[in-house]
Amino acid sequence: MQGNLAPNSFVASGPLRGNIHVPGDKSISHRAIMLSALAVGESRITGLLEGEDVLATAAAMRAMGATIERGEGIWSVHGVGVGGLLQPESALDMGNSGTSTRLLMGLLSSHPLTVAFTGDTSLSARPMARVIDPLSLTGAEFSASPGAKKNRTLPLMLRGICPAVPISYRLPVASAQVKSAILLAGLNTPGITEVIEPVPTRDHSERMLKGFGADLTIETDGKGVRHIRLMGEAELSPQQIEVPGDPSSAAFPIVAALITPGSEVTVTNVGMNPTRTGLFKMLEEMGADLTYAGEREVGGEPVADVTARHSTLAGIEVPPDIAPSMIDEFPVFFVAATFAEGKTITSGLEELRVKESDRLALMADSLTAIGAAVEEREDGLAVNGTGGEALKGGATIRSALDHRIAMSFAIAGQHCSKPVTVDDMSPIATSFPGFEAMVAGLAQ
Ligand code: S3P
Repeated sequence: MQGNLAPNSFVASGPLRGNIHVPGDKSISHRAIMLSALAVGESRITGLLEGEDVLATAAAMRAMGATIERGEGIWSVHGVGVGGLLQPESALDMGNSGTSTRLLMGLLSSHPLTVAFTGDTSLSARPMARVIDPLSLTGAEFSASPGAKKNRTLPLMLRGICPAVPISYRLPVASAQVKSAILLAGLNTPGITEVIEPVPTRDHSERMLKGFGADLTIETDGKGVRHIRLMGEAELSPQQIEVPGDPSSAAFPIVAALITPGSEVTVTNVGMNPTRTGLFKMLEEMGADLTYAGEREVGGEPVADVTARHSTLAGIEVPPDIAPSMIDEFPVFFVAATFAEGKTITSGLEELRVKESDRLALMADSLTAIGAAVEEREDGLAVNGTGGEALKGGATIRSALDHRIAMSFAIAGQHCSKPVTVDDMSPIATSFPGFEAMVAGLAQ
């Protein structure tokens, strides 16, 4: 029984059942705060993720002049207008949040501001060269810490430029954060800023920029390459935004139900943007019993209620081109693969090494520690599944300031004979407040 365990230990406790919702989408929440803070007048946001990462974005926008208030289930933001951000009095502390950092670096780079960015030890190891390189072409200047492999890391100092030079930039890495940083820089830049995106990534920035009235066009050429063009200097008008539930958070109870015998769990109001649903597609290919109901649109994004029932999963080879649409879901996907029949092979996942932790190394080591058969490769994992048998568990896992590692092992523990202990559950507060209560509630 889960009841006698320490709150950071997880073990098989019988079927999981329930009808739940998960907190608001993290990517959409960041963008909702940022764009609202740039519109002239009051925007109202419901369903906002009140996790530490989004609160770091809100604190930064407040420090630069926006008025952001939390009411009863609704956030009110009075923006300052594009170009109207004020010089913050102290460094912007980005905590654990790569999205806050990279998107704000873009946004601020075309304002006449000098801003220091700091973060925790996880964020301070993550590469910022990928945004510094394109943003430097606009005339903005950066003094970053050197970082490993010339990655250029936090702490860093940004000196914005106004007017900035509009650029046309082909993304060398499939990254919605880099794409968004450049588009946000384009908001206060005269002329057309263009991002050329060979591999599609999440398109929340494009959808929301259009929703706020920006002049943004998307053209897909004969080779499937997207050309995203934004006309600056933009004027944004305030909006009412309803943030859907985060599919990246829904992934945890969904995989928990799939691997735990006898389970049936419904997660309501889950974002189903096709640039985010790779996990669901791959699980279905493995034989997962997933059903979708109430398909509708919320805040310009498709949503559905997703029901997952315990399933016999079969190992698959995951095509590398699906990776961007499930990039944050690989840790929990590896957990699902651990209980599948046969081998699951992934490749093209170098990006997982520069997330909140090195997710390939940490998942391989930690799954091995609880009894799984995993081979770590340069660009992916090969997992030999148990065919549905429980794992032995009985190990303590290091979450290494990575919320998704912590949550993945809380889920893996649901089908382990001995408890899986996560050394530090606090990183979960960055993206999924209430996660532990949700897991406990499903096990009742
Ligand atoms: C995000 C983009 C992805 C994702 C991150 C959120 C975003 O990062 O992993 O959690 O909101 O744009 P990359 O752009 O580094 O792939």
